[in-house]
Amino acid sequence: MATKEEFIDRLNDALSWELAGIIQYMQHSVMVTGPLRESLADFFSDGSEEARDHAEDAGKRIAALGAVPTVEPAKIRQATDVEGMLEAALALEEDALAAWEDALEASDAVAPGYGFWIEEQIAEEQEHVDELRKMTNKVSFSDADVSGGAENAG
Ligand SMILES: [Fe+2]
Ligand SMILES: [Fe+2]
Repeated sequence: MATKEEFIDRLNDALSWELAGIIQYMQHSVMVTGPLRESLADFFSDGSEEARDHAEDAGKRIAALGAVPTVEPAKIRQATDVEGMLEAALALEEDALAAWEDALEASDAVAPGYGFWIEEQIAEEQEHVDELRKMTNKVSFSDADVSGGAENAG
């Protein structure tokens, strides 16, 4: 069983990834160029706001446990083109997801309400990872699997 201090450390690690997300997404929102700028700028801007909400939530819980929330962001990945920005976003979300999963593992050190809250965080981060895997073409389909695909392919 984890200690309360270990749990706080892991929450602070998750918080540092959310702080990185605030900055990374905002930077890519202001910088993104190309014909899809308008929608991608909104996408990155929303990501920054969501990371801010997650960071605030984490900070509230850490403070409630009597500890000082970190103000140090984790690694911020910079990119100058759309593909690079989306790959950076996917890597960020994977790191954040892993950090939240580590925090969940240690949540038995405190009251059950923390674990339920972290499960909701994990569900959201998983959704972000899934969407970004689609956006970076890491999900693909076989033509043979779509309706009428076998005939079309034949
Ligand atoms: Fe988040
Ligand atoms: Fe996320």
